[in-house]
Amino acid sequence: MKITNGVQWLDTAGNVISAHGGGFLQKDGYFYWFGENRNGKKLVSCYRSRDLVNWEFLNDVVTMDTHPELNPSNCERPKVLYNEKTGKYVMWLHWENGIHYGEARCAVLVSDTVDGDYQYLRSFRPLGHMSRDCTLYKDDDGTAYFISAANENADLHVYRLTDDYLDIAALEKILWAGQKREAPALVKRGDYYFLVTSGCTGWEPNQGKYAYATSITGEWSELKNLGSPTTYDTQPTYILTIQGTEKTTYLYVGDRWDPSDYHNSTYAFLPLEFEDDTTPKLSWASTVEIDVETGEVTTEVQESGLYRLQVNMRYLTVEEGQLKAARLSYANENQLWEVEEVVPEIIRIKHHKTGKYLQPTAGSTEDGAHVELADRADSASQEWSLYDTGGGYVKLQNRHSGLALKVQRGTEGPIFQTEMNPRRYGWWDEQAFLLAKVFK
Ligand code: DGJ
Repeated sequence: MKITNGVQWLDTAGNVISAHGGGFLQKDGYFYWFGENRNGKKLVSCYRSRDLVNWEFLNDVVTMDTHPELNPSNCERPKVLYNEKTGKYVMWLHWENGIHYGEARCAVLVSDTVDGDYQYLRSFRPLGHMSRDCTLYKDDDGTAYFISAANENADLHVYRLTDDYLDIAALEKILWAGQKREAPALVKRGDYYFLVTSGCTGWEPNQGKYAYATSITGEWSELKNLGSPTTYDTQPTYILTIQGTEKTTYLYVGDRWDPSDYHNSTYAFLPLEFEDDTTPKLSWASTVEIDVETGEVTTEVQESGLYRLQVNMRYLTVEEGQLKAARLSYANENQLWEVEEVVPEIIRIKHHKTGKYLQPTAGSTEDGAHVELADRADSASQEWSLYDTGGGYVKLQNRHSGLALKVQRGTEGPIFQTEMNPRRYGWWDEQAFLLAKVFK
């Protein structure tokens, strides 16, 4: 059976699967999926499947009634390991008080059974460090590691856990200090460990990156891009290893967060291919079919032919006829655009829903003039030159006014034209646009 990415998945009872920021555990031929569930007093839910398609809901393993400190709370990115020595299932997660993200703590819970009601032990800052996005990893020798974003998400810390997995034994490594990587997902393939991370842009998607090492606590490679500039509109959470009879498949699990409606968030399972021992490659797949016995995977891609225009983490949209920059909303068709190539590096930008084209407000060419949508015209005012500023971002210079498109940072519009600055100051640059393909 095919998995369709980027849509709501239902469990075997026909309910929407709520297991965001998830982690997995394989046992007795089942895949167990733990993830955030923000419905009512639920916090972490557990599902299981034999085929990665049919998911049976098992239990809300953590709820706000589990412990007073969880009522209220946000429990994010839960990950579970089985401890061979103690026979316990140990869960670590990112704990916040449900009101803001200032606590920056991890929390530890345990259960005698994989899908039991986990017992809350405590929340804390590991060795006094802030701890937000996180993951767990059990190494070949049974040593467990907790990797979490520290120092206001600027650094990634690698902690070695105690033998019972219930506490921090040592801070072993600080990775890519200052580079603000989060949403870590760790997997081992052959002699190499691969750590996949996202940038820090709240609920909005950004460029995934990977690095590799021969030892978790050793030297890691520099960060390299993985996937599209929005990681196919996902953020990493886990990499599943499927040991098949024919091949071993590595499955990237991503969250497609909807910043405008958390409960409209979906998931993506994408095969992580390897061009050589140290070069993973992630491609979009609209559908994925996995034979968990053989490990063989087939994928299909349906091109949408559509784009979203992202600028300083906001998306060009149309509200009541006005051009705005709004938070990403997968349900909002006004955020969808078509890009028509006039000649290489020169495009027209067509609003998909209205069929109208982006142009400076009629006749205006002065700096600061607004832009509008108009019926198609064979005019340089509807033609935009693309200036590549790196990282997939371009500046859009109008061929009639010679000015660049801009969105005032921190506002939702109107959209201006202004003297183009050919440099890009990072994703927050008011003129740097990402023509983000729509992956369906
Ligand atoms: C990005 C993180 O990866 C998510 O788990 C969540 O904490 C959001 N930030 C909150 O903005």
